[in-house]
Formats: sequence, C-alpha cells, structure tokens
Amino acid sequence: MADQFKSISEEINSFKVSNADDLESYRLRFIGRKNIIGDLFSQMRDVPNDQKKAFGQKVNELKNLAQSKFQELIESLNSDNVRDESHADLTLPSAKSSFGSIHPLTATRQRFIQIFERIGFNVSSGPEIEDDWHNFTALNFPENHPAREMQDTFFIEKDPDIALRTHTSSVQIRVLENEEPPIRTLSPGRVFRNEAISARAHCVFHQMEGLYVDKGVSFSDLKQTLYHFAKEMFSKKTQIRFRPSYFPFTEPSAEIDISCQICHGEGCNICKYTGWVEIGGAGMVDPNVLENCNIDSSIYSGFAFGMGIERITMLRYGVKDLRLFTENDVRFLKQFNSL
Ligand code: PHE
Repeated sequence: MADQFKSISEEINSFKVSNADDLESYRLRFIGRKNIIGDLFSQMRDVPNDQKKAFGQKVNELKNLAQSKFQELIESLNSDNVRDESHADLTLPSAKSSFGSIHPLTATRQRFIQIFERIGFNVSSGPEIEDDWHNFTALNFPENHPAREMQDTFFIEKDPDIALRTHTSSVQIRVLENEEPPIRTLSPGRVFRNEAISARAHCVFHQMEGLYVDKGVSFSDLKQTLYHFAKEMFSKKTQIRFRPSYFPFTEPSAEIDISCQICHGEGCNICKYTGWVEIGGAGMVDPNVLENCNIDSSIYSGFAFGMGIERITMLRYGVKDLRLFTENDVRFLKQFNSL
C-alpha cells in the first residue's frame, strides 16, 4: 500500500505537459470523476479500522497534491505556450485589419498615364527646384515680361534665378534638349505657386503636362488627342471646347473646357451655369521654344497641354474643396478604398 502511495505521488510530481492533450490526460488520471486517487478511497473498506485514519489522511494528501500540481501545469502551459497552435481557437473571427487605399490624386495620375501610354506617350520627370532657363527663358518668357508675374513664383535665389518650378513645362524643356523627335511625353509632378490657399487653389499642387513633337503635328491632332482623353477620363458623352488664350510657349494657345460632368450642360453651381468647366491650357509649341532646344522648327512642330491633377480629380469624384487632398483625413480617404 505504501508503495502505491509513493509511486502515485512520484508520478504526479514528475508529470510534464507540453500541450492541452497532455493536460487533459493528467486531469483524467488524477482529477476526473473516475481517477486513480478515487480508486484508493474505494479501497478504504478493506483497510483495518486502526489504520483507516492514517490511510484517509494519505489519500487526502495525494488528492491535494494532484490538485495543486494541476494548477501548476495549467499555469505553465499558459505562460510557456501562449502561441502554441494547439491552443489557438481557429474558429475565432480574425482581428479586423483595415487596409489603406490609393489616394484619389494617385488614382487620377495613374489613369492619366494609362490613357496616354496607350497612344504612345512615355512619362518624364525633372527637378522641383529649377533654374530660370528651364522654368521661364527657354519657354519663351521674355525677360521682365509680365507673364513671369502670372506664375506667382517662389524664388530661392536671385541672379542667377533659382526657383520652385511653377509648372512641369520645365520638364518638357529638359526632354526637348535631350531627345530627338518624335517626342511624346507626359510630365506629372508637384508644382509651386505663391497663391493663397482656398477651396480651389493651393500653393503646392500637381500638374500633368503633355508634349508631342514630330513632323506635321497640327492643331487638329491636339484637339483629337484631348477629346480622346476627355472621353476616356470622364465619360463617352463628354464634350470638349477650346477658347483662345495666351501662353508665352504656345502659339496659338487655348484654354480647354469640358462639358460639366455634374449637370451635363443643364447649368449648376459647379460650372457656374455655363455648362462648361475649364480643365487646363494647351497650344501649338511656339517655334522659339523648339529653336531654344536646338530642334529645327522648319521641320518639326508640336503641341503641348497642361492640366491640374487636383482639378481633374475634383471633377471626377465631385470633390468641392481641394484642401481635402492634403489633410489626410481618413474619413475622406476611406471613401476611395474601391479605387
Ligand atoms: N504651363 C501652363 C501652366 O502651368 C499650362 C500649359 C502647358 C499651357 C502647356 C499650354 C501648354 O499654366
């Protein structure tokens, strides 16, 4: 009998568990309804009366030992094996994770590029800090010409002038200087102008400019290209119109309007009841610009256009205040998570 007590208590003390199954076999053997210690209690009947008390005490000791060891084993499993997969409840719903989304300006830029890549345009980039030549002089801005004022430039240095680029036409000069026609390129990028921030204007915004230079490029190529763009970017029903305008680097120059996407020409406050909204400027590259970049203007001609990515995005998604694009309010950005 004494041996039996000894071997059970040894078994309890040396019991090791490494997972829930082990713990359960411990429980069944020492704690459960029909366990080995309970069997000892039922042997009580056969124990001589004078030994009953001592026997009972021994059995109780074993029972307490089994209980406290059980607690110990539970604790050791919890602390050692918190990540043990045998404990993982695979039926629990997973922790909710939220995904970021494509920024609406990025989505518009990508769509822009996609539309023009399909008709043979590539993408070019250049520095945001520019010299006077690339931002102004090569683009046919005469020195001291008021057109320089039109651009509300942030100057970094004077004489020689270094400034934050006011448009990505500067990138087009770099392409014209370095490549041979035919040239078909899109220049997306950040531009900077000293303007008061409002719902419709910002001092930092994004432009997409396009340039096509080859033999025999005409204004009708410009019109058809932008018409194609407008239908692809907005809808098949979109109409386009050109109004005469002025830019130093294009001649003739035009302002581009599309039919209002909100009221479809009926008149609303977005189009100021005209049925048309402006999306950018365009024109035939001034021969002086080609010559400034050593391209023979008697052989080559080209068109160029420039648009604000913010403006196109506002029209695309009906956003009324462009400050929303830079505030990074998740409630705003979340609305674009299907892009
Ligand atoms: N660079 C002009 C601007 O920023 C846009 C433009 C580009 C106009 C090309 C005509 C041709 O205002």
